[in-house]
Amino acid sequence: MQRATLRDVWKIRQLEKLVFPQDAYPLLEIVMLILAPISRNFKMIAPNGDMAGFISGTVGTMGRPGWIITLGVNPKYQRKGLGRFLLQWCERELQAECIRLTVRAGNRAAYTLYAETGYTEVRRRRSYYRDGEDGIEMEKCLNPQPVLPSSPLPPAS
Ligand SMILES: CC(C)(COP(=O)(O)OP(=O)(O)OC[C@H]1O[C@@H](n2cnc3c(N)ncnc32)[C@H](O)[C@@H]1OP(=O)(O)O)[C@@H](O)C(=O)NCCC(=O)NCCS
Repeated sequence: MQRATLRDVWKIRQLEKLVFPQDAYPLLEIVMLILAPISRNFKMIAPNGDMAGFISGTVGTMGRPGWIITLGVNPKYQRKGLGRFLLQWCERELQAECIRLTVRAGNRAAYTLYAETGYTEVRRRRSYYRDGEDGIEMEKCLNPQPVLPSSPLPPAS
């Protein structure tokens, strides 16, 4: 696992086009992800130089959640645990109490990965994607705040 830099933007763009035929980030937005002070970007390079996986997230500021912005694993390297590894690595680097992301309602692979790693649905965003598909916003709180019981204990006598 390595930090992605400006030198990687072209390979990241190729990976985005491969795994997100409808939603690939344009080159300029990838550059902005790499340069943004609040973003954390990681790549996994295969021994043959392929960009096997890429993840970008933003840190949570002032109590707001961090976000996973994009996650993609080259189909040649999928189902080997790389997506989970990238996600968990990025989560640690974001150092946010809670992390959110949005996934296409029909993206079973990604939804399963997120659900299995502790994300739960927060809300459905109607027609979130350009083709009209809904997005599902999910959240994982790494250090959940203790919730007060609804019927507090009687005061100690
Ligand atoms: C989603 C994605 C990142 C998963 O990457 P991956 O490296 O294949 O995932 P992993 O091997 O770490 O899988 C972890 C778990 O996710 C689930 N999962 C992954 N791919 C799956 C699939 N095709 N169908 C069902 N569940 C799947 C499984 O529970 C899997 O655990 P298992 O292999 O022990 O059963 C990859 O499929 C991808 O890049 N998809 C296209 C881009 C995308 O949808 N990104 C997410 C946008 S929100």
